[in-house]
Amino acid sequence: MINFGIIGAGRMGSNHANCIAELPNAKVTAVYDIRPEASAAMNEKHGAVICNSPEELAARADVDCVVITSPTYCHQEGIAAAMAANKAIFCEKALCRTPEIADDLLKKLENYDKVFSVGFVRRHMAKSILVKKLLDEGFIGKVRYCNVDLPLGIYRRLPGDWFADYELCGGVLIDMLAHHVDLANWFFGEPQEVYAKGLLLSKELPRPSDYAASILTYKNGVICNLMCSWWRSGRTTELMEICGDEGTLIIDGSADVTYYPLEGEKQILNAETELKKDNVDAALNQVSFGNGFTNEFANIIAAIEGKNNDLPTIRDAWNSLNIAFAMIESVKTGKVVTFK
Ligand SMILES: NC(=O)c1ccc[n+]([C@@H]2O[C@H](COP(=O)([O-])OP(=O)(O)OC[C@H]3O[C@@H](n4cnc5c(N)ncnc54)[C@H](O)[C@@H]3O)[C@@H](O)[C@H]2O)c1
Repeated sequence: MINFGIIGAGRMGSNHANCIAELPNAKVTAVYDIRPEASAAMNEKHGAVICNSPEELAARADVDCVVITSPTYCHQEGIAAAMAANKAIFCEKALCRTPEIADDLLKKLENYDKVFSVGFVRRHMAKSILVKKLLDEGFIGKVRYCNVDLPLGIYRRLPGDWFADYELCGGVLIDMLAHHVDLANWFFGEPQEVYAKGLLLSKELPRPSDYAASILTYKNGVICNLMCSWWRSGRTTELMEICGDEGTLIIDGSADVTYYPLEGEKQILNAETELKKDNVDAALNQVSFGNGFTNEFANIIAAIEGKNNDLPTIRDAWNSLNIAFAMIESVKTGKVVTFK
């Protein structure tokens, strides 16, 4: 049995507690939230003991892994408490809010001897794993470009909410685009340079909203065109279209992968079926596919039990954020930013 302590019992903390509760070998044993009512709700639903500080939670003997689902700007508090108690750590994306904190966490966590992972849930979804495998096998030949289309037309946050405050959440570039930038890094390797325009949740807008458009290139030549919004009208969708010399693959909001061959009709590849054909279950720590979040926790448990550790790392977390910070720099300076 692996026991989890949750710091931050809001939207994601509650979601993760429900996912942990679905797993046979896991339990939520402790909770800390600055809002007593949030802790009380988790106590009532999962029996989690209410703690008065991140340190108290992390030090408990019945906490094996600290789950950090507090707002992005204070993740480092939970990480510090978990490290001091030498516990396994799962921290939501984005890792943190500023480049200085990101550098500090990278330095401290790169050689951490317990499991550390970050919430790039899409890496635990069958569709992304299938695309990674197909790209690595050269299924669509040399990849030339990738479009990421990530409009959120149902954004409703208001002033006073940390998700409407650029200084606290970092807007779409730090928050929402993090997942797809991580997937692009996973698929295409090291970034070359980036140029971006964006609103950075500007206070001059009549209501909190955000939009960013960027061109990100990789050292292997892949050109990525990424758009992302928090808007109060319009489409809500997600799409990542990867185009190679021999075909195109699309990941969207569904569980399937769409494949357009050079000739012939488009094909819908059921990701779970395709992966099972090649016995990829074993590489996935024998997790049954399903909800990406449940897979994520099943994979964390497998890593803590020493069965496998294929989780997104602190370096992956830093790499994704580093690109977000470069995009912000480009928005502010109007210049292309080159990566070392
Ligand atoms: N992986 C994903 O797909 C995904 C989706 C949404 C959000 N997130 C990330 O998850 C994190 C949490 O987002 P959310 O939507 O759950 O936010 P939320 O505002 O719903 O919940 C945050 C909770 O943390 C509590 N809190 C605030 N300050 C705290 C502190 N110092 N210590 C402990 N608790 C504190 C709040 O009271 C609240 O209950 C963010 O980093 C966000 O970017 C990830």
